[in-house]
Amino acid sequence: MKFKITTAKSAGFCFGVDRAVKLVYQALDEGRRVATLGPIVHNDSVVSDLNARGARIIDDPAQLEAGETLIIRAHGVPRSVYEQVNASGNPVIDATCPFVARIHKIVAEQTAQGRQVFIAGDPLHPEVQGIIGHCNENYTVFRDKSELMCLIDRTLPERLAIVAQTTYNSILWEDCIGLLPSDHPDLKVFDTICNATATRQSDADALSRESDLMIVAGGRHSSNTVKLFDVCSRNCPTWHIAEAAELRDCAAQIRQTAADACAKHGSDHVLRIGITAGASTPAQIIKEVQTYMSEIIDTTTTTPDNEEFSFEAELEKSFTRKIRKGDRVTGTVASISGNNEVMVDVGAKQTGYITLSELTSDTSKKPSDIVKVGDELELIVIQVNDAEGTVQLSKRRVDELVGFENILKAYEAKEVLEGTVQSVVKGGLVADSNGVHVFIPASQSGLGRGADLNVLLKQPVRFVIIDVNEQRRRAVGSIRQVQKEERDAAKAKFWETAKVGDVYTGEVKSLTSYGAFVDLGGIDGMVHVSELSWSRIHQPSDVVAVGDTLEVYIKALNPETGRISLGHRREEDNPWVKFTTEYQVGDIVDATIVSVTSFGAFARITDNIDGLIHISQLANERVTNVKDVVNVGDTVTVKITAIDNEKKRISLSIREAGDDAADAETETDEVVYSDEAPADAE
Ligand code: F3S
Repeated sequence: MKFKITTAKSAGFCFGVDRAVKLVYQALDEGRRVATLGPIVHNDSVVSDLNARGARIIDDPAQLEAGETLIIRAHGVPRSVYEQVNASGNPVIDATCPFVARIHKIVAEQTAQGRQVFIAGDPLHPEVQGIIGHCNENYTVFRDKSELMCLIDRTLPERLAIVAQTTYNSILWEDCIGLLPSDHPDLKVFDTICNATATRQSDADALSRESDLMIVAGGRHSSNTVKLFDVCSRNCPTWHIAEAAELRDCAAQIRQTAADACAKHGSDHVLRIGITAGASTPAQIIKEVQTYMSEIIDTTTTTPDNEEFSFEAELEKSFTRKIRKGDRVTGTVASISGNNEVMVDVGAKQTGYITLSELTSDTSKKPSDIVKVGDELELIVIQVNDAEGTVQLSKRRVDELVGFENILKAYEAKEVLEGTVQSVVKGGLVADSNGVHVFIPASQSGLGRGADLNVLLKQPVRFVIIDVNEQRRRAVGSIRQVQKEERDAAKAKFWETAKVGDVYTGEVKSLTSYGAFVDLGGIDGMVHVSELSWSRIHQPSDVVAVGDTLEVYIKALNPETGRISLGHRREEDNPWVKFTTEYQVGDIVDATIVSVTSFGAFARITDNIDGLIHISQLANERVTNVKDVVNVGDTVTVKITAIDNEKKRISLSIREAGDDAADAETETDEVVYSDEAPADAE
């Protein structure tokens, strides 16, 4: 039977506990006499192993023997403990989890600034006791919402900061924060919850979904191990064991489950076995579980995919590994602390961390946007602090190195890069492209002279590199050049394909007294003022504005001069065509006098179509002054007496309209007195 054993990424000790245990082993290996302030971890086998190697457990620094090294466990301790040990002269190894140490720093700063600190957590828990000891007496602990409500009902301090125990329930924390008044004048909230437990559960959930069976290792009464068992058993058959040897008791059941899975999936099926472990389960037990499981499933088959793991070997490796400033190292993200830091395991005795500014140069991002727990990162060591046991690392600088190599390649290949404008600086913009800052001078921004560069802030931009300084790792980019090249390409394509009559929808880019320039997609054409409207207009701005969208068609093209003449008016909208379609000579219509001259009056028949009523046609009698008969605004009944299509002129006559009416009346009278009068006329 082929099988693959996979251990969940975050199984067993959390980052902080793992580090603390390693530090105790390291101190013992260095030949020190060691005492831990309380058990270093809640696991009997680890504690007894350390004890067998000489590590004592004490309750109070006063119990230290001369020369004995005190190891402070991951929970941390009050400031007074450091003072007490310093006074005794005993050496100290501080294994306080960096996440807890961060809380100590926060509460010390906040109380020094005059703020009262509210701590969400269990007041009796050693971690909370440690936090209290850094608060300068200015603190209040609350366990849950009801205790917080009591504090709110009393008057809240005017200056307030709030933190949480690292293992505080995150849902409860959100609820508590929601209770705080939003209009508090000076309230600082620090989310200091560590996500190690939640991550361990989600890793176990993911692994058990793709496994045929799961083994959960950890104490029977360990609540976080029981929770892991619950999570996994929902997805596949799962066994909870405290020690690896317990697997022997359930070997038959496990083999049967394995056989069932293989029967279900076929003979080629590779049995998938998942392992996870509670927070206080050491790597040694996980290793033993792996070994036992290999033996139980099949002792004769090779296990090519089985992950080998040796706690001792890993420990040995990590302690012999020396890290120096400037080293390029590979690290695994151990946890993400709020919005500020990422803790990284670099396989050394020190704790690795990356501040947000060293994680990315993109100020709009937070750590969880960039990395997740378990990610492997290429990093540069920027500072080693042996006293604090920390290593400051930078991902950004590695990204910049790699990014700059890409910039050089793009420069040589004249490749277009994409980036986001990070800031507006004196003389231009700074854009980020794959972790490298590229300066774009204002003249290369693609905006007009004197334009506000802030319109590009946080915007994605495309640019080419026009200059690089390899030594100083500086690059200069140009958006303008990309735009010009794109315009040139669009122009070339236009001249290749465009023909008279083609229709475009384009934006009006500019206006002159004689026409409007319209963007046809990288190339501009001009609509003459006479082409903009069938009405008489004085200038283009009477009917269009810059930014308007206009439908145009190509009237004429000249590739040599590059001139493109566009039309906008449509024949079907031509008022003269409409008029001649609807009216003919002889029609009697109502018209409105629009102007009066010495030789007659102009009357409007339809929109924009006027005809002339000559003075001789105004009335049957002789007229010497036009205004004696009609004035502007009068409505008159006229007869269309002539339509000149060539000159687009219309002649009208009031006189003839009157004659026609009289004739019609005469005809009506004749009918009335005809022989065919109705019978009742008598
Ligand atoms: Fe562990 Fe430190 Fe979180 S001790 S649970 S990694 S706060």
